[in-house]
Parts: sequence; C-alpha cells; structure tokens
Amino acid sequence: MNPVHDSEIRDITLAAEGRRKMDWAFAHMPLLAKLREEFQRERPFAGKRVAICLHLEAKTANLALLVQAGGAEVAVAASNPLSTQDDVVAGLVDAGVTAFAWRGATEEEYHRHLGRLLDFHPEAIIDDGGDLITALHRDRPDQLREIRGGCEETTTGILRLRAMEAEGALKVPMMAVNDAYCKYLFDNRYGTGQSVWDGIMRTTNLLVAGKTVVVVGYGWCGKGVAMRAKGLGARVIVCEVDPIRALEAVMDGFSVMPVVEAAREGDFFVTVTGNRDCITRPAFEVMKDGAVLANAGHFDVEISKPDLRELAVSVREVRHNIEEYRMPDGRRLYLLAQGRLVNLASGDGHPVEVMDMTFALQALALRAVVEGDFPPGVHPLPRELDERVARMRLSAWGFSVDELTPGQRAYLASWQA
Ligand SMILES: NC(=O)c1ccc[n+]([C@@H]2O[C@H](COP(=O)([O-])OP(=O)(O)OC[C@H]3O[C@@H](n4cnc5c(N)ncnc54)[C@H](O)[C@@H]3O)[C@@H](O)[C@H]2O)c1
Repeated sequence: MNPVHDSEIRDITLAAEGRRKMDWAFAHMPLLAKLREEFQRERPFAGKRVAICLHLEAKTANLALLVQAGGAEVAVAASNPLSTQDDVVAGLVDAGVTAFAWRGATEEEYHRHLGRLLDFHPEAIIDDGGDLITALHRDRPDQLREIRGGCEETTTGILRLRAMEAEGALKVPMMAVNDAYCKYLFDNRYGTGQSVWDGIMRTTNLLVAGKTVVVVGYGWCGKGVAMRAKGLGARVIVCEVDPIRALEAVMDGFSVMPVVEAAREGDFFVTVTGNRDCITRPAFEVMKDGAVLANAGHFDVEISKPDLRELAVSVREVRHNIEEYRMPDGRRLYLLAQGRLVNLASGDGHPVEVMDMTFALQALALRAVVEGDFPPGVHPLPRELDERVARMRLSAWGFSVDELTPGQRAYLASWQA
C-alpha cells in the first residue's frame, strides 16, 4: 500500500503538529528508543505486513514507527472512534505508515476502516479490545491462514479472545499482553488512575477535593481511579459484584455499597468494569443535580445511554465533550465523552512513561509471536520479557536491584533446608 494514496485520514496538512506530539512523547520513551536501536540492527519484522488497531495518539504512533524500524510495512486503524488524534494520524502517514482513521468516525466509517486495514492482508496484528480480530474471523476467514499471530492490549479484548477460544473459534495465536505484570500493574492501575482524572478535570474544570466519587468496578483500573481520587481529596465509594474485590476496597479504606445506594451520594461516577449496564435507570432516578458521569471501561455500554435518553426531557452539549441530560424533575446529569473511555476520548490517554512500558511489551510480544511457532489460542507473555521490561524501566530511572546468590537460589528451590 502507498501511505499517501491509500490512507483514509482527515487532513495530511496536520502532519507537522502530529510529528511534534510524537517527538515529545518519544523523548520520554527510553524503552522504545532502546528497542528501536535493537530492531533497526536485527530487523525482526523484515518484509512482514503488520496491522495495528489501537488508540491513535502520539505514544501509539511511536510503537508503529518502532515496528516499522524493525523492517515491517505498517498500517493502522483506530480501536475507538473518539480517541483518534487527526494530527498524529497525519504525522504517521507522513512517516510512511498507511492509516485508516479519523476522530469522530461513525459506526459505519469505523468498521469500514477496520475492513480497509484487513485489505492490507496483515501477517501479524496488534489489537485493542478485539474488534479487529472479530472482523478478521467473521468477515475474512480466507485470510486467517495468512496470520502468523498477534497481541491483545486490554482486559476486554482478552475476555473476548478467551470466549472465542472456549468455543474453538479462535484460529490464530494471540499473546495476552494485558495479562503481563508490567501491563496491568502499571498501565491499568497507575496509567488509568492518573489519566482518568486528567480527562475528567480538563473536561469539566471542576474541583475533586471534598466531593464524593463513586468508582464502579474495583479491578486493576478501578483501584487506580479510586487511589487517585483519594489523593485528590475526594471521599470514595466503591461498587463491586466480586465479594473479594469489595473486601479489598473496604480494607483499602473505602466505603462499599450497591450502585443504587451510591447513586444518591456521588458527585462523580466512574465506571471501569468491562461489563455492560452498570449504571442504569434506577440510579439515574435518584442522583443529585449536577452529577458527572464518566466511563473508563473499554466500550461505551457501562453507563446506560439508552436509559439516560429515555429519561431525559432534553439533551444538549453544554461544554466540549459534556452532554447535559435534563431529568423531568429538573435535575441535570452530565455525561462526559459520550460515555466512551474518558481518558482517551477526552484527554491524551495514559502518561507517556506508562505507555513506554506497555508498548515495549507489545513490541517484544509481537517479535515473540512472529519469530515463534505458537498454536492458535491465547498465550501468556513469557516471564523473561515481562522482567526485561521492568529492568529497562528501573534502569531508565537509575534504580538497580540485588540479584539472588547461588546459595539463595538453591535454598528457595529446596524443601529440606
Ligand atoms: N481507560 C483505559 O485506558 C483502560 C486501560 C486498561 C483497561 N481498560 C478497560 O477497563 C475495563 C476494566 O479493566 P480492569 O483491568 O480493571 O479489569 P478487571 O477484570 O481487573 O476489573 C473489572 C472489575 O469490575 C467488576 N465488575 C464487573 N461487573 C460489575 C458490575 N456490574 N458492577 C460492579 N463491578 C463490576 C469485576 O468484578 C472486576 O473486579 C476493561 O474494559 C478494560 O479493557 C481501560
């Protein structure tokens, strides 16, 4: 494919601004910089076509350029219609990557872009949320044999892959990058924790201190969102369905209660479950006037938009990315970023250093898949790659750690000592 002629993007004249954003991010991505040197030398993807379906912003662009530096021909599409940054996509095309994406794509355009990405006949893929892998299996079964394998970025995508695997429907090997320690411990927790509040605060310009924040879902992301809300001075309520995670929230110092009870108290609501219909009509009916609703889970189904629309007597955009739903009794509920991932649709996504780690994992996982011979199915990231990324991050920050002595290693491996 020819990046300039074949791409479907908003405006190539935005490329210079996109390149500036990419350069700023890359200057804070020492892990990708190190891997770029290695990949330029070793060319692990020489002659391969790699399709990347991720949130298209500056950090992702640097991953695409890293894969390109490893010898691949690269094409990209968005994993969410509202997280694409048009200038960054233009910058990518300018750098020789074919792109099919623009911010605010309709449902039809979004799926057409995924189709165009598959027209590229990739041999390896990086997916985020499973939309590309689903389109591949559903619409292009003939192309499955062309795929050497791929990597999945997020919790929701892994759930979908495991559901496919359980039904015997998954026909390619996929590495579960999300399940690496260096992914969920840092990206899901600290990345989501910081970027969700960045997204909410820059969109609303409202104070968090002294308010009540309701976090629905206390998984890796929810823990980060709750922790950072507490740090900002909020009182935090957690809603969970898993009793063990609910107990964890209690021992972390938070109140725990069902959503309909928390609904009466919250000033901010953040859903981050990967599930659907987590906040619905009974909760909207009792929320305070002015409650702010944001979602950080992968799809825009966690806060029920159909229920909100049905209840509302009017809907209007009151500020960029804030929709006001006026209830029959006059209360106003504010939905951010149309219920899509607030940190990406209403911000720049995770902090750069976090994505440097996540994308180092992605690059190493892609290399392992391309060079290995994995059977179809979901595969864990090899532990040594996880540890390598942790060591790279520690070393980039100037930290070093002790090594086990041979005696300690033997002691830990024995049962008679
Ligand atoms: N915004 C981002 O940048 C970002 C980053 C990483 C992951 N994600 C997405 O966030 C979501 C959560 O990811 P995670 O890694 O925290 O997952 P996780 O599996 O660790 O946690 C999800 C939690 O939600 C709980 N839950 C499920 N249904 C619920 C309900 N109805 N009410 C209350 N709690 C419920 C589960 O019990 C679980 O504890 C996924 O969709 C994932 O893809 C988003």
